[in-house]
Amino acid sequence: MKGKAKTALRCAIVMGLCTWIGVAAAQQPDARPWNDSKLSPDARARLLVAQMTQDEKFQLIRSYYAGPDRPSDKPMPKGAIASAGYVPPIERLGIPALEESDAGLGVASSDRMRPGDSATPLPAGPVTAASWDPQVAYRGGAMIGNEAHGKGFNVLLAGGINLMRDPRNGRNFEYAGEDPLLAGTLVGEAIRGIQSQHVISTIKHFALNDQETGRNTISAQIGEKAMRESDLLAFEIAIERGKPGSVMCSYNKVNGDWACENDYLMNQLLKRDWAYPGFVMSDWGGAHSAAKAANAGLDQESAGEIFDKEVYFDAPLRQALARGEVKQSRVDDMVQRILRSMFAAGVFEHPARKAPIDSKANLAVARATLEAGAVLLRNQDGLLPLDAARLESVAVIGAHADKGVLAGGGSSLVTAMGGNAVPGLAPKTWPGPVMYHPYPPLKAIRTMAPKANVQYADGDDVAAAAALAAKSQVAVVFVQKWSTESVDAPDLALPDGQDALVAAVAAANPHTIVVLENGGPVAMPWLDQVGAVLEVWYPGGDAASAIANLLSGKVNPSGRLPMSWARDASQLPRAEIPAATGGTPPDTVDYAIEGADVGYRWFQSRGIKPLFPFGYGLSYTTFHHGPLRLATHDGQLQVAVDVANAGKRAGAEVAQVYVRPPAAKVRRLAGFAKVFLQPGEHRELTIPLEKRLLSDFDTNGHRWLLRGGQYELSEGPSSEDLGAPVSLALPAGP
Ligand code: GLC
Repeated sequence: MKGKAKTALRCAIVMGLCTWIGVAAAQQPDARPWNDSKLSPDARARLLVAQMTQDEKFQLIRSYYAGPDRPSDKPMPKGAIASAGYVPPIERLGIPALEESDAGLGVASSDRMRPGDSATPLPAGPVTAASWDPQVAYRGGAMIGNEAHGKGFNVLLAGGINLMRDPRNGRNFEYAGEDPLLAGTLVGEAIRGIQSQHVISTIKHFALNDQETGRNTISAQIGEKAMRESDLLAFEIAIERGKPGSVMCSYNKVNGDWACENDYLMNQLLKRDWAYPGFVMSDWGGAHSAAKAANAGLDQESAGEIFDKEVYFDAPLRQALARGEVKQSRVDDMVQRILRSMFAAGVFEHPARKAPIDSKANLAVARATLEAGAVLLRNQDGLLPLDAARLESVAVIGAHADKGVLAGGGSSLVTAMGGNAVPGLAPKTWPGPVMYHPYPPLKAIRTMAPKANVQYADGDDVAAAAALAAKSQVAVVFVQKWSTESVDAPDLALPDGQDALVAAVAAANPHTIVVLENGGPVAMPWLDQVGAVLEVWYPGGDAASAIANLLSGKVNPSGRLPMSWARDASQLPRAEIPAATGGTPPDTVDYAIEGADVGYRWFQSRGIKPLFPFGYGLSYTTFHHGPLRLATHDGQLQVAVDVANAGKRAGAEVAQVYVRPPAAKVRRLAGFAKVFLQPGEHRELTIPLEKRLLSDFDTNGHRWLLRGGQYELSEGPSSEDLGAPVSLALPAGP
């Protein structure tokens, strides 16, 4: 055959082959039909599970600890970014790895994990809660979700929502206060923000993990009705709003059963009543069995090779399968739930990988959160805002304000850019380090008052601090109380003689402003002696600028307390937390004492007056709340109220609507709205009411029931400052 003819023939053959392959490929169903993002997450997961081997399924239902402090005989899993958890990829099927980082206040890179790494720290959870602004929560979540994604993480162990049953709980700073509607709404929005960045968020710690003392052994004792109407209602509302890909079951027991093998919590409530489609992961050391945990609804064992007595979801679970104690369909369901959450968050299509992070913009989000959530607790004779331009002398005292601001301890700790501003404070090891984020208020106050002589005294020498205050126009005293995961506070007192420091400074200068850096309510014996108190909790990224903006009036404080502020421990359901300072913790904690009446509901049920009520917060302007009007909008119960700014400064107000069901002693928050108003401006707010707060949980019918009768609705700027009630007749029934 001639050369040309040969070439032509070759081309014809090649063309034919290409066509055949093309046609074949077109005809052959896609090798990975689960990648069709037009299908639902559940449908995609079903297609994928059907292709998996048993070993691949078992690979997915447990994570590895990825901390560098692993014992040498258990090396870091290949491919893992050093952090809390890791699930290796399944390349054969294109299933990406799960890279899991803590937590709800930012990408926790405390020195334990990735020395030198840093991230943007959000303020403590109560700051976001105190903003009463779902948008603030969403933006904070989106910011930390974006940072996580840009560092290669596709799971953020966030969504801390345990209610503040005890102001001494060491982890209150990670959570959102005492009310199920406020916490559920805002944590739900934070979760939604995180997941908008294609990062799976958890919600935790499920459930009733409301103290740290004995957290790995204690059993929370409480009736079903009471927990459904309090802690579990917070989870229910947040899960509806945020749709977290995962729920983290907690260390403790609930009514005698470990939370991570609690059939009521995981199967009956979460997966049946709430129809939750995602997966339950254990806390790190929260798994205690194979068959019982699997059959009770646990879907993934976290870091079992380090934190559990054994890796239950490996050989023990395979043996349980072989013995018929666990059905294969349960294992398939675990995998289904994990994969559907990965599809739902877009983990396949938007793989987390190293990407530039806009730290400046992210710090602005942290700052805006504090500006919206700082709470002005006291302001005598308009001491605040300071006339910064004309200030001539300011004393800045205490809490390392010349270097930075305090952060809470434990797994949620974020190392900010610039590292620890005050290294070496005890405890240096877990649950330390004690971290000061490098945003020095002293510097920001000097910038705020350029003409003033601004001097700092560290407060160790009380006389020197008082002397500095005496010769200054105003004194700003920063006080701190470190709190941390795994430890509760033995009392409400400020440590290290700070009460004496504040009292001495206030005695030297009545124009004393106290700024609180704390994880929850503290006793303030000096309150009546000081001019002003600003609550900033652990104030997070760029806090110093925010604090200066709030003190100078550049920003008008608009935070409202997300928890009640007890005068002292005698006002609490439990006078102390047994063994908070060591010793053997009791086997149980009795939450039936208050039941669903957590926080302000406890105070109201007992006729006790707290130091500051839930929902309280001052402003630099004054607001006027008009009468409450009922409205209904396509079956949704709503109220309308007109709020006016009657002062000279712009500011934001929170309209809070409380309901007292017939024959009830206690009012409950049933709706709220925040509004920003210019001086003289007024706005009619329409506030939808959450029906479950008008209802009681009926444990027989397993549903929410209205008692029927006259419901008293009232609205105002705090739980103890409400206008004339309006009565609403509602029929009994579901
Ligand atoms: C911790 C915490 C949990 C955290 C996990 C991983 O012990 O209880 O909130 O996400 O372990 O660090």
